Amino acid sequence: MTLTVDTATPAGDGILRRQRIRESAARTYARSFPIVPVRAHGMTVEGADGRRYLDCLSGAGTLALGHNHPVVLDAIRRTLDSGAPLHLLDLATAEKDDFTTALFESLPREFAERARVHFCGPAGTDAVEAALKLTQTATGRRGALAFTGAYHGMTAGALAVTGSVAVKEPLPGGGEVTRLPYPYPYRCPFGVGGERGAELSAAYTERLLDDPSGGVVPPAAMILEAVQGEGGVVPAPDGWLRAMRRITAERRIPLIVDEVQTGVGRTGAMWAVEHSGILPDAMVLSKAIGGSLPLAVVVYREEYDGWRPGAHTGTFRGNTLAMAAGAATLRYVAANGLVERAALAGARMAARLDGLKGRLPVIGDVRGRGLMLGVELVDPAGEPDGCGALPADPALAVRVREACLERGLIVELGGRHDAVLRLLPPLTITDEQVEAVLDRLADAIEHAARAAA
Ligand SMILES: Cc1ncc(COP(=O)(O)O)c(C=O)c1O
Repeated sequence: MTLTVDTATPAGDGILRRQRIRESAARTYARSFPIVPVRAHGMTVEGADGRRYLDCLSGAGTLALGHNHPVVLDAIRRTLDSGAPLHLLDLATAEKDDFTTALFESLPREFAERARVHFCGPAGTDAVEAALKLTQTATGRRGALAFTGAYHGMTAGALAVTGSVAVKEPLPGGGEVTRLPYPYPYRCPFGVGGERGAELSAAYTERLLDDPSGGVVPPAAMILEAVQGEGGVVPAPDGWLRAMRRITAERRIPLIVDEVQTGVGRTGAMWAVEHSGILPDAMVLSKAIGGSLPLAVVVYREEYDGWRPGAHTGTFRGNTLAMAAGAATLRYVAANGLVERAALAGARMAARLDGLKGRLPVIGDVRGRGLMLGVELVDPAGEPDGCGALPADPALAVRVREACLERGLIVELGGRHDAVLRLLPPLTITDEQVEAVLDRLADAIEHAARAAA
């Protein structure tokens, strides 16, 4: 059964119909999930049709505490009731001061001690632009090193360092970006898989940068994700991240780590860089730092702070409510063991997903870190590549997403072929919810795979 708008109540039906005729053809999630959420609490979203869904998308990883967490609502209400101005460009406020304190307290100490923060327009992509501009100003260079599978946003600079050909193809120009192979054991760019692929990626990067005929003009920065999210939930090995830190440091290339999706406990560490212990030169942060409201910053080593006043400006750089909600979220995550909870619940989910993989041949790979998990769906009848990876099955993935929705589970797709089910539940997920998610997911995959056979 395919879920159509006809199953909604008349109210929801009208909203969906008007959305279809009035909103842009470029809308995305609204196409995958034809529901009209009217209420949400924690991991549960209730639609206008009265149905309830467990939300494993969490605003693409934004909702560390789930929907409408009391601590977040309380921070927003207190700020509203205080009479504080809600919009103040980048003027000093008590809310911004408090958010900055909470943010710096959450960052790796050695990094925070010598860091500056710049408040950006309220989207991850603007903070990526700021980080690129910052390092260009500091180095006097222009190009960037970026990785296959990367996703950094939709504005020009961020798009240039993004890997997806589909989103870049319609646009003229490509920017001065050198694309490097990101380690991906299942679909190894070197065709060898495992740890060897990561070793080759590091060796290739180093040799390319040192090759006088390699075609790479010394760049302004390297930008990477410690776990690629949109790229298909691909975690980089810690050793590879340390190699990238060494390679960039030795060549005086600033290293920008994009923690827009991995930050605030998501991977089982407050910040994903903590797994490897590397200290980047700049960190790009957004999504969860605003406690469900829009907020984005770049935090960087103070010696890079040589850009001029107004070098990266904008009207909405730091929203008072988002700062209050964000500070409350950062402190709640730290004080309530939610980082450890993400590691534990993630390990539990990964173990059950691994078991499922043993049973269901349409699951080619299960991977991730903490509560950032991916299940790559494949065609078991297809021809395996040199590393044994089967062809991705995006059509099956769409059917599984639909079957999940029918079973009251919101799961989005990602990855190179849009064949990876991405699980991003809130860090507050309970053991019962873990089991419910996996029961529904397993049933949906079995159902969709049977229908395809
Ligand atoms: C790693 C990463 N960087 C940047 C972005 C862009 O953030 P935004 O959509 O807020 O512009 C995203 C969005 O998903 C992301 O996952």
